[in-house]
Amino acid sequence: MIYAQILAGGKGTRMGNTAMPKQFLPLGEKPILIQTIEKFVLEHRFKAILVVCPADWLTHTKDIISKFIKDPRVVVVTGGSERNDTLMNGIAYIEKTFGLSDDDVVVTHDAVRPFITERIIDDNINAILQHTAVDTVVPAIDTIVRGEKSQVAEIPIREYMYQGQTPQSFNIKKLKKAFGQLTNAQKKVLSDSCKICLLAGEEVHMVRGEVSNIKITTPYDLKIAQAIVEKRVII
Ligand code: CTP
Repeated sequence: MIYAQILAGGKGTRMGNTAMPKQFLPLGEKPILIQTIEKFVLEHRFKAILVVCPADWLTHTKDIISKFIKDPRVVVVTGGSERNDTLMNGIAYIEKTFGLSDDDVVVTHDAVRPFITERIIDDNINAILQHTAVDTVVPAIDTIVRGEKSQVAEIPIREYMYQGQTPQSFNIKKLKKAFGQLTNAQKKVLSDSCKICLLAGEEVHMVRGEVSNIKITTPYDLKIAQAIVEKRVII
């Protein structure tokens, strides 16, 4: 089976002092989260589309979904304190509700990347049916500099550098096993889900993202996103 999981369990602290976590803020005429879910319901191969949100926002999430989305595959699940806890809560829901078989896969996506395209979702599905883990990336535009204590420690060759986006897709059983092998200290510092698989020695396949597949993180990003929805910027 192929599942989708939209990660909407964050607080959005870098967005500043907003009335609600950024995934619920309006973008054009609908909340950001709804704009993202709408891209996923277009894909008929998903058996279920999980929306994993903060516990305090469960009722609100269900309310806006019932207002804007008519697809019965969309279900709301409670997230966790770290992004990977949210991911694993979704996996636990899938296992409890549908069971797990060796070839079940999940396409996971940030709720705050509403400009995901059908092509990127399609590429993720096709790739995860062949590989253990898949990351969506774009070539780095700026030079990437690794720093330590206000010193430049390393400047890797840009040709080999990419910026990670989402979706990130996984064979569910292998992801669960890899996550189970991590120490608590590793779990605390792991902000990226594909790294769970890398640490377990699994290969992670890359698919091409888009520069327009932005993550709305700061007030500036939200202004860019508004300009895109209002077609003041064409992507
Ligand atoms: N996310 C999640 N569960 C968490 C933390 C993050 O599902 N415990 C989700 C966010 O809702 C978002 C995506 O992961 O859709 C990317 O998170 P990011 O924007 O980096 O983190 P936030 O916690 O939302 O924001 P901030 O770091 O600014 O507080």
